[in-house]
Amino acid sequence: MSGYRVGVLGATGAVGSTILGVLAERDFPASEVVPFASERSAGREIEWNDSILECRALGDETIQGLDLVLSSAGGTVSAEWAPRLVEAGAVVVDNTSYWRMHEDVPLVVAGVNPDAAAGHRGIVANPNCTTMVAMMALAPIHRAVGLERLVVSSYQAVSGTGQKAIEELRAQSAAVLAGEEAPAPTVYPHRIAFNVLPQVESFVDGDDYTTEERKVMAETRKILDLGEEVGISATCARVPVITGHSESVNVQTREDLSPEDCRALLSEAPGVVVVDDPAAGRYPMAVDAAGRDDVLVGRVRRDPGQDRTLNLWVAGDNLRKGAATNAVQVAELLVERDLLG
Ligand SMILES: NC(=O)c1ccc[n+]([C@@H]2O[C@H](COP(=O)([O-])OP(=O)(O)OC[C@H]3O[C@@H](n4cnc5c(N)ncnc54)[C@H](OP(=O)(O)O)[C@@H]3O)[C@@H](O)[C@H]2O)c1
Repeated sequence: MSGYRVGVLGATGAVGSTILGVLAERDFPASEVVPFASERSAGREIEWNDSILECRALGDETIQGLDLVLSSAGGTVSAEWAPRLVEAGAVVVDNTSYWRMHEDVPLVVAGVNPDAAAGHRGIVANPNCTTMVAMMALAPIHRAVGLERLVVSSYQAVSGTGQKAIEELRAQSAAVLAGEEAPAPTVYPHRIAFNVLPQVESFVDGDDYTTEERKVMAETRKILDLGEEVGISATCARVPVITGHSESVNVQTREDLSPEDCRALLSEAPGVVVVDDPAAGRYPMAVDAAGRDDVLVGRVRRDPGQDRTLNLWVAGDNLRKGAATNAVQVAELLVERDLLG
């Protein structure tokens, strides 16, 4: 059979299972798809595209002969295994944060900076889901009028933390609705059901920004190639939504951009849908973004307190464009541009 031998690492997880679905939906030219997960899942059967695939554990023998690996099994696994997979002949599209800021690893959003993929040395990184959703709205604005300053505030869904976080929200919500005490949190530092946590990921080394906020700021700069003269500030919150990250973006531009021109610009942008009739109750919402690949943008309005500044509300599916769909689009790009192998 013609096509590529494709590994999906983290195939039993929230992102990996979505990648399997997106590969099938987009009819990726795979001669074989090989799911990988931890040793706990070795031998587990996964239904895929009318067939049954058997999960494998990573090992020197199991990783041979792969052309491409879409990897989402956490940073520690990628740190060790991405170089080994490359050594064994695969190109790795990595969803974890481990390789994103390495100088010789391109950080690619399909539709935003596809040309960056050309310089890869075996690993191509997929940005953080919050960054990815914002990029879809901000890249066209940056190309048209230039960015001067950004303030991003996110309202992030629990599926962004993985399968266990979805289960935690479900179990706590069920208990609270039944009038019982919610089970103690194990994934998050506090109860997530009926709550908002102004902490996504962790505070390290005395930093008063979280690691997620640092990622949003650093990755935005890398993808859009913004110099230090562009100010970026991010605040990330976790909300009790299963899928779909929402973001409030305050964007100051170098040249003036009216809300009307901004809507016109974004309605031409691939992968973006403008939903902006607030008086009629039409604006981007997580429930509408979940399950689709387009990023929704609306509530476009001038900041009354600052020149050349707009406020936007953006919503996108963190598991699809925020992770799986972009990874598969990057894989398609590698095929189209003959960058595999
Ligand atoms: N969720 C999102 O929206 C999102 C978006 C962008 C990027 N990411 C990144 O993608 C990665 C996975 O996220 P997720 O949300 O899919 O997490 P998840 O639901 O917890 O899934 C983790 C996956 O990794 C596998 N795994 C764990 N330890 C392993 C090991 N030692 N060797 C091989 N496989 C191992 C798990 O297999 P078992 O089932 O066998 O344990 C599972 O398939 C993370 O690095 C995350 O930061 C997530």
